[in-house]
Amino acid sequence: MPQNVRAVIARTKGDPVSLETIVVPDPGPGEAVVKIQACGVCHTDLHYREGGINDDFPFLLGHEAAGLVESVGAGVTAVAAGDFVILNWRAVCGDCRSCRRGRPWLCFSTFNANQKMTLTDGTVLTPALGIGAFAEKTLVHAGQCTKVNPAASPVAAGLLGCGVMAGLGAAMNTGNVGRGDSVAVFGCGGVGNAAIAGARLAGAHTIIGVDIDDRKLEWARKFGATHTVNAKVTDAVEFIKSVTGGNGADVCIEAIGHPATYRQCFDARDLAGTVVLVGVPRPDMTIELPFIEVFGRGGALKSSWYGDCLPSRDFPMLIDLYLQGRLDLDGFVSETIGIDGVEAAFHKMERGEVLRSVVTF
Ligand code: APR
Ligand code: ZN
Ligand code: ZN
Repeated sequence: MPQNVRAVIARTKGDPVSLETIVVPDPGPGEAVVKIQACGVCHTDLHYREGGINDDFPFLLGHEAAGLVESVGAGVTAVAAGDFVILNWRAVCGDCRSCRRGRPWLCFSTFNANQKMTLTDGTVLTPALGIGAFAEKTLVHAGQCTKVNPAASPVAAGLLGCGVMAGLGAAMNTGNVGRGDSVAVFGCGGVGNAAIAGARLAGAHTIIGVDIDDRKLEWARKFGATHTVNAKVTDAVEFIKSVTGGNGADVCIEAIGHPATYRQCFDARDLAGTVVLVGVPRPDMTIELPFIEVFGRGGALKSSWYGDCLPSRDFPMLIDLYLQGRLDLDGFVSETIGIDGVEAAFHKMERGEVLRSVVTF
């Protein structure tokens, strides 16, 4: 029987979100219905409702979630009713040209549910990132459910579903940070602080947090920054060079999505170093770089999509590190809110007051 549940919907571009009843079908072949326990508020949810992603309104928002599998459709064997899962937006296909070459974390053809969730009048919803988890229950592809240790709190676990994984992975996967590396992170919001935590876990010995807001820099130190710099007051590139023997950092991570800070990353990087872009630029932005230095400095300019994560590999491992007290996921949770608090949480996010607001059910 299809079920009616409450969910957060963006009906039209720019308008406040609304709490509505949606219809969740029973899971078909390869699908699962998940009872959501917690879902973080991410910039991408706001981008959807601002029309910045596409025009397929109405959107069912929310995509950074953990919960319990309620039921699965025909042929699903990897998860079963009762399993504690983190939802992912990289259900790898196993068959695209990237998967076939042994690089499933770059899968070009990820799975989402086939059936559609709708409003009660039958209007088809577009779930954010193929998930749609500001809802009491949601329908996903079974591959979007990653089982993790149920001892973890859903509020903390859900964070790995998007922003925190993006930051951790920017350092650990894309940047390939290793023991003894120096790392600079530009932008110390939820994503940047996760990159700082990832750099610490990976063994970086110098970690420099860059922001223009002193509150964020305080958080950065809590997550493992050994140095911080307020770029409004001090030239960030000069500062990074001054604490790395005049050389620059081995890995510079941009967690803002702005051409000016990308350029600073480029300039603050040591010879043969790596720039990782994890902040999401606006479509109209362009960059200009001194071409001879792109060549002459060597190294790599990389982009990090979802932290180049492979959910089946990374989520259970990171939850275990969390349970061992080695990864402070709880530190990212600024507040827990009800399902009716998403609009207010967007405004707090815009004002930079929170790392993460998390809806609990
Ligand atoms: N120099 C340094 N820091 C800056 C600058 C600047 N010129 N401009 C903004 N910042 C800081 C902000 O003060 C803020 O702390 O960047 C941080 C950005 O953090 P959030 O707005 O909290 O965003 P976050 O959730 O961390 O996401 C960062 O990654 O996933 C993407 O869409 C997301 O592009 C966004 C980025
Ligand atoms: Zn694939
Ligand atoms: Zn997100």
